[in-house]
Amino acid sequence: MTRLLGKKALITGAARGIGYAFAQRYIAEGAEVAIGDINITRAGEAAAALGPKACAVEMDVTDQASIEAAVDQVESNLGGIDILINNAALFTAAPIVEITRADFDKVFAINVAGVLFTMQAVAKKMIARGQGGKIINMASQAGRRGEALVGVYCASKAAVISLTQSAGLNLISHGINVNAIAPGVVDGEHWDGVDAFFAKYEGKPLGQKKREVGEAVPFGRMGQAEDLTGMAVFLASADADYIVAQTYNVDGGNWMS
Ligand SMILES: NC(=O)c1ccc[n+]([C@@H]2O[C@H](COP(=O)([O-])OP(=O)(O)OC[C@H]3O[C@@H](n4cnc5c(N)ncnc54)[C@H](O)[C@@H]3O)[C@@H](O)[C@H]2O)c1
Repeated sequence: MTRLLGKKALITGAARGIGYAFAQRYIAEGAEVAIGDINITRAGEAAAALGPKACAVEMDVTDQASIEAAVDQVESNLGGIDILINNAALFTAAPIVEITRADFDKVFAINVAGVLFTMQAVAKKMIARGQGGKIINMASQAGRRGEALVGVYCASKAAVISLTQSAGLNLISHGINVNAIAPGVVDGEHWDGVDAFFAKYEGKPLGQKKREVGEAVPFGRMGQAEDLTGMAVFLASADADYIVAQTYNVDGGNWMS
């Protein structure tokens, strides 16, 4: 378990959920990890739980100045950034005729602009350092096709897949591999929120949608955050040097592409 020995990683939105599981696994693989999150209290608690190889950095991925300050802070704390996981995101759902501009703007500011400009800030540092790097963007099965009630989030994740392709093609000449992971349905606080949206719009009791989507996964259950960590380690390792601009489904068989 030392595939990332000595590597320095910034993981956005790692105060909880999938990002936290990535941080935990990266540390187990020998990396040092900065947990970048808008919720600095929770990020601090996460870093304390993860021990001396973790640190917390306050960052709002919708704010350019905040991104740049956080990236500078991580660079000086860790002495460079080898790996970025763009993991922070927000889910929303509504029928097309009820989508508000405010909701659209907020989701795209975090899920799309946040990914692009954090990628940009870190790529500039990686290029200046001259040692290449690995960037992993968190897409979703939601980015593979639209869903009746999930128009804005699905579009934002399709944009993540597209940005991964463009950035992957653009940055590989600097030795920076940009790839993405498309999870399916992963249990946790995020999916509690998704379940509440479906309860509202489909009139289901709380918890029912979650049970249904879990039963529908070919593997036989919802994903756990830990199911994704192997791919996140692989894409950050030298084994993935020849992998460029790809999005990998890690979803128990929900989607094939
Ligand atoms: N959970 C799933 O079923 C699922 C499925 C497919 C894709 N994904 C994707 O995986 C990633 C992680 O999902 P999760 O379930 O752990 O999500 P989560 O909602 O549990 O965690 C998101 C984290 O992002 C942080 N965050 C929100 N806005 C931010 C901002 N402006 N700046 C910085 N941090 C911010 C939150 O504080 C939180 O810690 C996301 O990109 C999500 O879209 C999740």
